[in-house]
Amino acid sequence: MRKPLVAGNWKMNGTKASLNELKLLGDAYSAGLRAKVDVMVAPPATLIFVAAAGAVGTGIIIGGQDCHAKVSGAHTGDLSAAMLFDSGAKAVIVGHSERRTDHAETDADVKAKAEAALAQGLTAIVCVGETRAQREAGKALSVVAKQVKASVPDGASADEVVIAYEPVWAIGTGLTPTIADIAEVHAEIRKVIARKLGKEASAKMRILYGGSVKPENAKEILALEDVDGALVGGASLKAADFLKIIEAA
Ligand code: PGA
Repeated sequence: MRKPLVAGNWKMNGTKASLNELKLLGDAYSAGLRAKVDVMVAPPATLIFVAAAGAVGTGIIIGGQDCHAKVSGAHTGDLSAAMLFDSGAKAVIVGHSERRTDHAETDADVKAKAEAALAQGLTAIVCVGETRAQREAGKALSVVAKQVKASVPDGASADEVVIAYEPVWAIGTGLTPTIADIAEVHAEIRKVIARKLGKEASAKMRILYGGSVKPENAKEILALEDVDGALVGGASLKAADFLKIIEAA
């Protein structure tokens, strides 16, 4: 009932030459695959406009990696959700742990950004996840529950919000939680969403796993009942690897 979403986050990687990977991906993302799994790519902001134009007709959704909470104004270096939408983006990642860490973004900031995205008609991919210290202290579930509660806009629907569970210690490290741990956190997130947004939204909302997803581990992770796709960093940069993860979904 929930169509999986495999989303690629290029982070601060990619130049015009990387658009060729997007072209290869578009060629391989067949009608059969499109019917079964949604695909999004979030290139760096410099490439969004041209990537979105190139993706027309391929079924690939182009997304941003972050947005400002305001529509416009004196915020040097920032981009608004309105600008992303204007450039052809249909979605935006908010609250990625690298934003939370590098830019000291709080749950309230993330919620404001997600609200700005929804106001522009963009899908908000809201990221949450515990640090290694928090997991070792047995606090993974409570930390993630608190982040979900405070970062997801009130009254949001399952069509406009996607949650991405990304343990901070698993991002870019090659480490992943056990399958049982992923299942446990995803089930907890679904419970929190049911309390916050209602049972129907909770049953429909997609919850992605992210953190060192690779062609080799994608199948096992994506087979879990409450895992509705993946948010992929490193392995999304090469179309061939990313496609294997899409096929696993
Ligand atoms: P990774 O990144 O796949 O390179 O671990 C995931 C992410 O940060 O979204």
